[in-house]
Amino acid sequence: MPQGVVILGSTGSIGRNALRVIDALGPDYRVVGLSAHRNIELLAQQARRYKPHSVAVTHADSVAGLRALLDGRTEILSGPDSLTQLVQDGQADTVLTAVVGAAGLPSALAAARAGKRLAIANKEPLVMAGELLTRTAREHGSTLLPVDSEHSAVFQVLHGSANGCGYEARHVGRQTSDGTSLATDPRSTSIIERILLTGSGGPFRGAGARELQEATLEQALSHPTWRMGPKITIDSATLMNKALEVIEARWLFEVPVERIEVLIHPESIVHSLVEFVDGSVLAQLGEPDMCLPIQYALTYPRRVRGLSKRLRLEEIGALHFERPDPSTFRALPLAYEVVRAGGTAAAVFNAANEAAVAEFLAGRVRFPQIMELVEHCLNRHTVRPITGLVELLEADAWARKEVKDRLCVSR
Ligand SMILES: NC(=O)c1ccc[n+]([C@@H]2O[C@H](COP(=O)([O-])OP(=O)(O)OC[C@H]3O[C@@H](n4cnc5c(N)ncnc54)[C@H](OP(=O)(O)O)[C@@H]3O)[C@@H](O)[C@H]2O)c1
Repeated sequence: MPQGVVILGSTGSIGRNALRVIDALGPDYRVVGLSAHRNIELLAQQARRYKPHSVAVTHADSVAGLRALLDGRTEILSGPDSLTQLVQDGQADTVLTAVVGAAGLPSALAAARAGKRLAIANKEPLVMAGELLTRTAREHGSTLLPVDSEHSAVFQVLHGSANGCGYEARHVGRQTSDGTSLATDPRSTSIIERILLTGSGGPFRGAGARELQEATLEQALSHPTWRMGPKITIDSATLMNKALEVIEARWLFEVPVERIEVLIHPESIVHSLVEFVDGSVLAQLGEPDMCLPIQYALTYPRRVRGLSKRLRLEEIGALHFERPDPSTFRALPLAYEVVRAGGTAAAVFNAANEAAVAEFLAGRVRFPQIMELVEHCLNRHTVRPITGLVELLEADAWARKEVKDRLCVSR
């Protein structure tokens, strides 16, 4: 039987690449569900080509238009709950989460609860609800597979070392022979000394605070090595993307955040590294191309030929590494504070950033204001413990409103 795949956010950068990967993988993979927010023309084209059971459109005003573009044979789900319905398709083995932002949280949780293989590109839900999402996955036998290139790199390194250091076992909810969960077994991560997440440094690598004051939207959207959607591209320019990735790694690999570091690597060839307790450092390398991590998440634990361009180190010549500048790029030190604060802090960190980036993309705030707004929200927030989704959604809504209120006051 082919593996059934649902792609949440199939019209985006990751979603379109995932469809190219599935084309290349051939008949072993079948698309059973697709989703978009507003881009109904592309969603309809994809639905005609891949013939999924259902498509979901989350923007309420777009449903009628989509219906007119399809022939009535594809089920159309709509509204905010449509993604959670889509992931429960009985023929879906794998759910690739490629929507942008916190909007992906309920469907990621639903997919974990349904015991699906969860290929995670949409990092924001893991950042805001890491404990809840990983626990739900464990309890329901759902495997979490990273798609972010850095986390895929770490995952590939761990998978090749000491049986994944218990990673696999933790994320499919298996038990050790003595009945204890490997998640709480100190042996499982004790051979990892440090995880080194690499990042290109974005378009403002090396810039000081004064240069960032002048940064334009066009410059911020010109990423030196990756072609991605607008929100993550701005996150790469503020280094918020790396900050989110530190938190993402903390949950995916269950390593204390103090052992996760960021290394700026402008060529984006070494996708991340793991230093083990014996001093050995293993890395995963490849061209900057999301097709490889998407493919690995789909075919794991198999490796098969795919679309990725071959790496020719002799053509690249030199690889460079440097420390990030935490005083100019405040997102990074804030990420560590947020993890230490726990509870609702990460939800506020993420939501304030989403709201501030939307304001920047709309031309209503300057580049440095993005992190000022995030810091303002964190300073004003009273961290609460999380017992479920309710506190997370409240914290998310509070931060978005706080960004709006702050801007109203300053205008
Ligand atoms: N792009 C990359 O190379 C890359 C790498 C690593 C991780 N990621 C992560 O992957 C996720 C997707 O990134 P991307 O670059 O592919 O983003 P993108 O190009 O902006 O695509 C976002 C997708 O989500 C849909 N969407 C937008 N708002 C939505 C909402 N409120 N509810 C439901 N769906 C919504 C969009 O639909 P419409 O097209 O209809 O608007 C589109 O299908 C992000 O979390 C990002 O951090 C991306």
